[in-house]
Amino acid sequence: MKKLASLATAGLLLALAPLAAFAAEGQKEAKHISFAHEGPFGTFDRQQLQRGYKVYKEVCSTCHSMRFVAFRNLAEGGIFTEEQVKALAASVSVKDASTESGERPGLPADHFPSPFATEDDAKNANGGAVPPDLSLITKARPGWYGTFNQLVNGIGGPQYVYSVLTGYETAPAELAAEAPAGKHYNPYFGSGHWIGMAAPLTPGRVVYDDKPEGYEATVDEMAKDVSAFLSWTAEPKMEERKQLGFMVMIYLAVFSILLYLVKKKIWADQH
Ligand code: HEC
Repeated sequence: MKKLASLATAGLLLALAPLAAFAAEGQKEAKHISFAHEGPFGTFDRQQLQRGYKVYKEVCSTCHSMRFVAFRNLAEGGIFTEEQVKALAASVSVKDASTESGERPGLPADHFPSPFATEDDAKNANGGAVPPDLSLITKARPGWYGTFNQLVNGIGGPQYVYSVLTGYETAPAELAAEAPAGKHYNPYFGSGHWIGMAAPLTPGRVVYDDKPEGYEATVDEMAKDVSAFLSWTAEPKMEERKQLGFMVMIYLAVFSILLYLVKKKIWADQH
């Protein structure tokens, strides 16, 4: 009995343990913004994913790889048509040792090419900091902490990315003095306040295809769109998962009603 009790306690403690490590000292909790794909019935906003892809392609891809995503995934996810994906893939050149030049235009089956050949190259080009691969970043970085908080609000991965992109501030006077060379003050960054990435977005940096000519996209919009896109890259099958979960719930509900009716019938003459 004692053993059982201690097992139960251990289980309870395990369940209450934070899902992720604690926040870095002084790290600000990510801004609470909402996305179309959140909640039990949320689906991705395809137009937003198209814009987010453009932001990744034109801005982030110069430094950050996205190794786990192939061009064809964009068609499978219903973000672009097969024709569009062919054209997008063909617009980049990928390494291929079997060709004479060692390179060829991309095909839909190719994964996104990495901007740097080795980690050392990436480090050298970025003042010693390695730009992490972005494929799974919204699953790898929580925006806030606490088991209950994460259970109710999700881990806040896309909010973390959004907050880092929009979170550059002037360093408080007491910290400004110790600013490391080439680093920028950003209290949302998960590894201390100083980030080795200069603010990558500026107003109008990306021209949106679904907006009228001359429209100047704000940093806020671009940050939100690319964060939504990175939620999709981290879990492209999210909608199927939610749908399946919903079907299972309906099935269980119907099954419970049937069981109840059967039980009533079997025991009818016993009352
Ligand atoms: C000029 C190169 C460069 C560009 C462009 C760039 N980044 Fe970064 N990024 C970096 C580097 C370098 C780091 C690592 C910083 C560090 O560790 O101090 C980083 C870090 C990050 C982080 C924090 C990751 C973590 O470890 O918590 C996120 C999120 C991020 N970048 C997203 C983006 C997005 C989204 C874009 C496009 C809008 C982008 N970056 C554009 C170089 C870049």
